Amino acid sequence: MSENGSEGAKTLSIRDNRTGRNYEVDILDGDVIRAMDLRQIKVNEDDFGMMTYDPGYTNTASTRSKVTFIDGEKGILRYRGFPIDQLAERSSHLEVSYLLLKGELPTQSQLDDFVHEVTFHTYVHENITELFSGFRYDAHAMGMVMSGVAALSSFYPEAKQVDDPDARWQQITRLIAKMPTLAAYAYRHHRGLPYVYPENELGYTANFLNMLFRIGTREYKPNPVLERALDILFILHADHEQNCSATTMRVIGSAHADPYSALSGAMGALYGPLHGGANEAVLRMLTRIGSVDNIPAFMDGVRRREERLMGFGHRVYKAYDPRASIIKRTADEVFEVTGRNPLLDIALELEKIALNEDFFVERNLYPNVDFYSGLIYQAMGFPVEMFPVLFAIPRTVGWLAQWEELLNDPEQRIARPRQVFEGSDERDYVSMADRG
Ligand code: CMC
Repeated sequence: MSENGSEGAKTLSIRDNRTGRNYEVDILDGDVIRAMDLRQIKVNEDDFGMMTYDPGYTNTASTRSKVTFIDGEKGILRYRGFPIDQLAERSSHLEVSYLLLKGELPTQSQLDDFVHEVTFHTYVHENITELFSGFRYDAHAMGMVMSGVAALSSFYPEAKQVDDPDARWQQITRLIAKMPTLAAYAYRHHRGLPYVYPENELGYTANFLNMLFRIGTREYKPNPVLERALDILFILHADHEQNCSATTMRVIGSAHADPYSALSGAMGALYGPLHGGANEAVLRMLTRIGSVDNIPAFMDGVRRREERLMGFGHRVYKAYDPRASIIKRTADEVFEVTGRNPLLDIALELEKIALNEDFFVERNLYPNVDFYSGLIYQAMGFPVEMFPVLFAIPRTVGWLAQWEELLNDPEQRIARPRQVFEGSDERDYVSMADRG
């Protein structure tokens, strides 16, 4: 029903009380109006026209998308219609990657072909290893991998052909294949260990673990529970619709930059502690708290707004993040193998307080995906610097699915928001001698 009560009308009536004029704008599918329809609202004919003001894009749909659905109120997350818990339980990261990119679950032969394609692009050019050797021994892994991804654009000039679907697909498979290699090389550099080349007979996650942890020529056999846990974490992190880094990927992609350049930009956004860097920030926070006895003082700081409870809160979820509950279950399985992470008690106590106290409940501060994932990564032997990288490897697929959708969408144009200008009006240049 529209505001004036007529059933079925798909328009919105707007009255400008400055002028007394009435306007009618179409309501489109998805209960949205076109922001450009507001431009007709003016006081004078030479006015620019009305815009919406939405810092942080809290209520602006920047695209139509068929990739990922989230209902933040109900705690629902689906990739291409499939509930995240079913995918985490029954699928694999590469199958989910195919699903996100192509829109449908693969047949066995489609999956075999995709796995083969990804597997045979895992090597990186030796010049990339030389590039990595130029980093300081203590360089952050995320900075190294981000640079490695950006550098790849110079190895594949055909990646610039973003209008060519075959060229796009080639870069997509390359990026999915090479991310674990770059990540493992960054880790080995940090540890001062020689790089381990990809072993193409291993699966995606096993190959990654092998490149990370194999010492010498001895065969490395990843524990199947840990290998599966990492694959589940990859599934859970694969996409999350129009978040900060996906939006970055789309914004850079909208300028028709090559996908390596766009993806390294998206990684930069992910690196921030309010986004994918939160898993690292959670571990540092838990380590700083140190013991359950110190929690009351820490929580007082949060209530006084001197501290932020990292790993809690979400722009979209106003209920328990569905990924967090799957990760919590996975953590139990991992700790059976690795032993219990001593920081778990602190994490559980923080969660208990947050779920029961008005300050946190009123602000919908539930654990998000980053709260328990760091505990698993640490138990598996990853240093905290690797945590955001472990987020970026699977999210590569989501970024690429969003990028592919953007380039196939005839409504998309180069991203270029407006501003409300509040600076000086025109004034004359003052020479140095006359400045006060
Ligand atoms: N600890 C304490 N207070 C918080 C927190 C937190 N983690 N998150 C939000 N608040 C408070 C905030 O102070 C504000 O209170 P008030 O209204 O009294 O000023 C209120 O809750 C609303 O917060 P906001 O900052 O306006 O919310 P937002 O939607 O802009 O921010 C967020 C979302 C994820 C950036 C924020 O919740 C946060 O900083 N969380 C901690 C970092 C984190 O865990 N990030 C990972 C997000 S999930 C992984 C991903 O997809 O990136």
